[in-house]
Amino acid sequence: MDSEVKLSVLFTAEQIAAAVKRLAAEIRRDYLDKNPVLIAVLKGSFVFLADLVRELNFPLNIEFAQLSSYGHGKESAGNIKVVKDIQGDIRGRHVLVVEDIIDTGLTADFFLKHLKQKQPASLKLCSLTDKPSRTQVEINIDYLGLTVPDKFIVGYGIDWDERFRYLPDICAIEDEA
Ligand code: PRP
Repeated sequence: MDSEVKLSVLFTAEQIAAAVKRLAAEIRRDYLDKNPVLIAVLKGSFVFLADLVRELNFPLNIEFAQLSSYGHGKESAGNIKVVKDIQGDIRGRHVLVVEDIIDTGLTADFFLKHLKQKQPASLKLCSLTDKPSRTQVEINIDYLGLTVPDKFIVGYGIDWDERFRYLPDICAIEDEA
């Protein structure tokens, strides 16, 4: 049961909302007249994307992709595959990848290279969170919401083995007893 796992709140729903508003203001400033394509990386980014686009509130397209990076549990498998690719043509389009977390950076590094082959006019990365303590590949995050400590985090779409995506806050797992 989820209630048996001890969690501590790292960022409240209000703090997350403030970060999303700030990111939306930055993205709006840069993309307002560009009809960008936002590519959300499933599954973790679904809550963030939903809040972000309603703050943006200007013409844009949305695509979804799904990659596999983690096996079961909390360690990155480091063996990235495209499980579901985008459906639209992004050649010549301004593309913004929307992620929930950059952990080792391996997923984003792989996916940005994958998208670059599709020849977008520009390609940038927005991530709600970054965990710099775990970096294996340096990734330039063009729009970053929150920096998280070296703890496993859940909530606001982010899971631990498919659990806790529903939490409104971003929490750290303190005790897995
Ligand atoms: C998470 C997250 C990123 C990736 C980051 O996805 O959404 O895509 O891990 O990790 P990395 O920087 O170490 O590569 P996950 O594989 O957990 O899938 P999910 O979004 O479906 O939960």
